[in-house]
Amino acid sequence: MRKKIVAGNWKMNNNINETKELIQGLKNEMEAVTLNNARVIIAPSFINLQQAVSETNDSVIEVSAQNLHQAKSGAYTGEVSADMLSSVGVKTVIIGHSERRAYFNETDDILSEKVNAAIENDFEIIFCFGEQLEDRETNNHFKVVESQLKNVLFSLPSSAFSKVVLAYEPVWAIGTGKTASADQAQEMHQFIRGLFVEAYSQELADSISILYGGSVKPGNAEEIFSKPDVDGGLIGGASLKAKDFSDIVKSI
Ligand code: PGA
Repeated sequence: MRKKIVAGNWKMNNNINETKELIQGLKNEMEAVTLNNARVIIAPSFINLQQAVSETNDSVIEVSAQNLHQAKSGAYTGEVSADMLSSVGVKTVIIGHSERRAYFNETDDILSEKVNAAIENDFEIIFCFGEQLEDRETNNHFKVVESQLKNVLFSLPSSAFSKVVLAYEPVWAIGTGKTASADQAQEMHQFIRGLFVEAYSQELADSISILYGGSVKPGNAEEIFSKPDVDGGLIGGASLKAKDFSDIVKSI
């Protein structure tokens, strides 16, 4: 059975003290939560990952990076490699977030290289994709999502997908307070699973976790997560408050 996942993308928030505080708060909240076939992941900034790993190693909380560089090492000022992440105990990475695509020019080609680097280094990947508002308004959202997946993921062998989690994040719903309705999320997730049936197999499609992301809050998580093809969420803003994030975890 595929896993349910609630992942918190902290983005460029929280210094070291705030990181420690939020993790402590989460651990306290999480004590009362029974996780049935569910995982909880947080993605702090690079500089706080090592601390986050050590603060969470006695808890159910797992730690992910928000990005990695595709090269092994070398003259890439300011970048962080898969090996550096592994060496501090991080083996999960978010790739393809819409903010990376929009502000850091991460094209499908670059994302393919990042995905390959992650796979070579035995990372689990949380791969993000999703349409812009104008794509949805012009009824192109299925086409856009299909090409984002085809261009980056569909050349991978089926064996790679045991370590890939998908995160459908319509760009118009990220940080805007506008959430896709539970039905819109279900419709897209079902479409995505269908693409995996076509490209690979029913078995693979059934095994892959598809998260929804975009303004998930304690008040709407339960309805979104109740849909059969929604296997959890990638949470931005609401992952920065221990109570909100753990309330979302409780909805899974
Ligand atoms: P949001 O962000 O929950 O603040 O909309 C989601 C994301 O960017 O992953």
